Order: sequence, then C-alpha cells, then structure tokens
Amino acid sequence: MASIEEVVQAVLASAKYAQIDPALAAEIAAQELAKGARAKDAIKQVKRRLHQSVAAYWDGRSDFAAWRATLDAASDAASLRATLLSVMQAHHSTCERLPMLDEFYHTIFDGLGPIRSVLDLGCGLNPLALPWMKLPKDAAYFACDVDREQMDFLAWWLEKSGRRGRAFVWNLLDGAPHLDCLQEHDFDAEMQNCGDAESSPQLPEPIDVALLLKIVPCLEQLDKHIGERLLDGVAASVLIVSFPAHSLGGRRKGMVEHYTARMDALLEGRGWAVERFVFASELVFRLRRNEEVSHES
Ligand SMILES: C[S@@+](CC[C@H](N)C(=O)[O-])C[C@H]1O[C@@H](n2cnc3c(N)ncnc32)[C@H](O)[C@@H]1O
Repeated sequence: MASIEEVVQAVLASAKYAQIDPALAAEIAAQELAKGARAKDAIKQVKRRLHQSVAAYWDGRSDFAAWRATLDAASDAASLRATLLSVMQAHHSTCERLPMLDEFYHTIFDGLGPIRSVLDLGCGLNPLALPWMKLPKDAAYFACDVDREQMDFLAWWLEKSGRRGRAFVWNLLDGAPHLDCLQEHDFDAEMQNCGDAESSPQLPEPIDVALLLKIVPCLEQLDKHIGERLLDGVAASVLIVSFPAHSLGGRRKGMVEHYTARMDALLEGRGWAVERFVFASELVFRLRRNEEVSHES
C-alpha cells in the first residue's frame, strides 16, 4: 500500500496543485488510503477532490507577478479599483460578488460599529475588496486559504495597502486558525505557513468579524461536520456565513431554500441572534453569540 507521503508528492508534482498546502493534500490522501485505494487511484481521487474544492474556482490565468505589477502601476484610487475588479475576476467565487460589492459590504457591516479586526476564512481573492469594505484605517485584516502563491500575493497586497494584519496558509479542515496565526504580520519577516507554528501566544485583540463566505458547502465536500466545528471554533463576536445562491454554472435550483434549511440545522441549539440577507448571487447569515454586546452599546 502507498504511503500518504508518496501520494502527496505525486499530487504536488503536478503544476496545477504544486502551490496547494501539503497538509490539505495529506489529509485527503489519508482519507483515500483509509478506504483501501491503491496509489494510482488515491492520487487520482486526491487530485479530483482538490480540483473540486480549490482549483475549480480559478480560471487558470492567475499571474500573481503580473497582478502585482498592474496594481503597482495604478496611479490613483479609481484606476486601483478598476485593476482590483479585473484581478478579482480570476477567482470565480469572489467574482460573483463584484456587481454588488458596495451594497454587500454596506449591508453586512451595517450597525456593527467601528470594526477593529476581520478574519477572512477561505478568502479566495476577497481581501482585494478591502476598498469596498470601508473599514476604519487602523482595522486589522487576517486572511487564510490553501494556495501558497495566492497567500503570498495577498500578504503583499495587505502590506501595499498599509493594512495591519496578516495573510497566511491555513487548512480549515484542521479547524479555525490557531491564535498565533492572528499575530499581526511582521512585514520584514518571511510569510509563514502557520500550520508549522508551535505555541499559541496571546491574541493581540479579539476578532470582531469573521467572514465565512461560501466556504461551508465547499469544505463539507471534504468533511461533513466542518460547519459545526467552524461555527463553534471561530473566536469572533460576529460571524458572517454565506452560501451561493446559484451554482458556478449559474443555475438557481432552489439553493436559497436548501442552504436556509442547512443553516437552520447548523444553528439548532446554539441560541444565537441571526439575521438573514438575500443578495442576487449570495445568501448571507449574520450571527452573534447572544452574550456578545455590540460596540454601539
Ligand atoms: C467558494 S470559494 C470562496 C472564496 C471566498 N471566501 C469568497 O467568497 O470570495 C472557497 C474557498 O475555500 C478555499 N478552500 C478550500 N478548501 C480549503 C481548506 N481546506 N482550507 C482553507 N480554505 C479552503 C478555496 O481555495 C476557495 O478559495
């Protein structure tokens, strides 16, 4: 029988998956090998599942170096925004939100008071939407996903935009990021994969808002209990959890009703305050643990 290591090496040898967090590939490889799959079949299945949960969202034309250059060349706020919109089109899931970015962030952040920190889980290219979020200048932004080049690019973007925070590689199947990943990024140091981090120093400040945008259905393909684990494990005052309102192909297929029922099931017994917003392409739930006191009070 093949080892997890051999399967991971074979999968990461392919250019399409080379930048993916080896910890995620290893976790899926372990699941496949536990079913008794032979090496060749396990490699095929790991690639198939990584395609479904990660690679399928990219249009295949991600050129991080070229994007840095065009963002650097943007000479004013308007051309920077236009360039950001064009780059965000490369991630299908982030792209679906572009026609409604202003309305989206105005609505989901409305009434939360000054937001001091945001944690964006399975972020795609959403951190590039920062100018539309209208966060206070000193608010910190933390973002994670599983592609190393993508997170390197987003770390560069946070630094370029003068935003406190950190972009880091994190496999959410391991649960919410460790607190040590939420230390503010030291821009003089190399970006680290927090999966390798050791102890858990103190969080500099509590996280105000966690974004779980369209990640629950994606992660549930790999672990059907991940929704509950993330809801309970993410230490934030407000959780914004969203679902696609149509498939990547554009069909609606009763998805709003389906995911409303899924969210009802996830919330059962949790006694949280819940608000629901329906946008053209996205169904959003804003959750507050009942004991949380809003900033305004
Ligand atoms: C549907 S997309 C949502 C992207 C982003 N949240 C947005 O709405 O613009 C799902 C994202 O989850 C990421 N992802 C998939 N598996 C993951 C994992 N195990 N850990 C962290 N992120 C993961 C994918 O790479 C992808 O960017």
